[in-house]
Amino acid sequence: AAVDLGPYRHFMQKEIHEQPRALADTLEGALNSQLNLGDLWGTQAEAIFKDVNSVLFLASGTSHYATLVGRQWLESIAGIPAQAELGHEYRYRDSIPNPRQLIVTLSQSGETLDTFEALKRAKELGHAYTLSICNVAESAIPRASALRFLTRAGPEIGVASTKAFTTQLVALYLLAISLAKAQGKLDADAQATHLEALRQLPGSVQHALNLEPQIQGWAARFAGKEHALFLGRGLHYPIALEGALKLKEISYIHAEAYPAGELKHGPLALVDSNMPVVVIAPNDRLLEKVAANMQEVHARGGELYVFADADSHFSASAGIHVMRLPRHTGLLSPVVHVIPVQLLAYHAALVKGTDVDRPRNLAKAVTVE
Ligand code: G6P
Repeated sequence: AAVDLGPYRHFMQKEIHEQPRALADTLEGALNSQLNLGDLWGTQAEAIFKDVNSVLFLASGTSHYATLVGRQWLESIAGIPAQAELGHEYRYRDSIPNPRQLIVTLSQSGETLDTFEALKRAKELGHAYTLSICNVAESAIPRASALRFLTRAGPEIGVASTKAFTTQLVALYLLAISLAKAQGKLDADAQATHLEALRQLPGSVQHALNLEPQIQGWAARFAGKEHALFLGRGLHYPIALEGALKLKEISYIHAEAYPAGELKHGPLALVDSNMPVVVIAPNDRLLEKVAANMQEVHARGGELYVFADADSHFSASAGIHVMRLPRHTGLLSPVVHVIPVQLLAYHAALVKGTDVDRPRNLAKAVTVE
């Protein structure tokens, strides 16, 4: 079916702006049912979730980055060990199957061959607990899974994934609280608190989208650069990865992401006034550590572009640009902090005049190896 661009210049821009709606739609079932596990994940969910003793996420590209956040939520919220791996790596290595491990595949399209083959391999190894989070109902990966959850981002046309990513994140958050619930680790109060935080999320994302005019100003400065570095820690390291990936994919600026603590073990050698350094620096328990890493960059003449929360005390000065997001949103903060890095990549690409929705050499769904 034809999808209309409406007032937007590109599908990517439209899809970025659809995120509050896409998130609300994806959350609707969970919020209305008060987290009914069978309705959300499938009839066998309750029984499987009770027995699960670890989780392995398998995905590719942007979907893989979502799992790098998800595995941390699994451990923080549900207290269940979780790992994340790229499908094409898992598929060809020796691994030790654990029949009580839940295999979770994430895929916007549901057709990515690397992810599908990894799922098939897991099943061959004897894994029966399989769950897929997908944006396309009638696709290969959910069809081959015992449990499934459909994100309701709506059709995503831009090759660079945006709304699919944030809806995958909330699906992963729902998975973490669902597993906690099934295993008796979530009391009624805690469930209500998590659901309320999710209910507030589309509003916080809208607030972040309102920063677009300011981000356009930053993007104009980026468009002339050849390299960029993205830093984050903990839950926000995957957001740094996603920011670097978006910038590479659509603006063709070489970008790399590092967990900020790793700066001193190599990338600091690259820092000079020609390389912008983007820092995802929300008010979480790692803020002081991130601030110290920023100081290391600043002392070497690096130019910093910092995404902070509204209530943080960073101030701009020579060589330090600061943009304030909404009030800190706790564990859900990565969902809010990815918005400005999506917009930054989009506007840098606009300045460069690239084919934003169809970047060279890339495909929306990669169904070959
Ligand atoms: C391709 C797309 C990416 C996407 C990846 C995984 O590389 O260009 O945007 O993240 O595939 O796609 P999937 O549909 O499995 O999420």
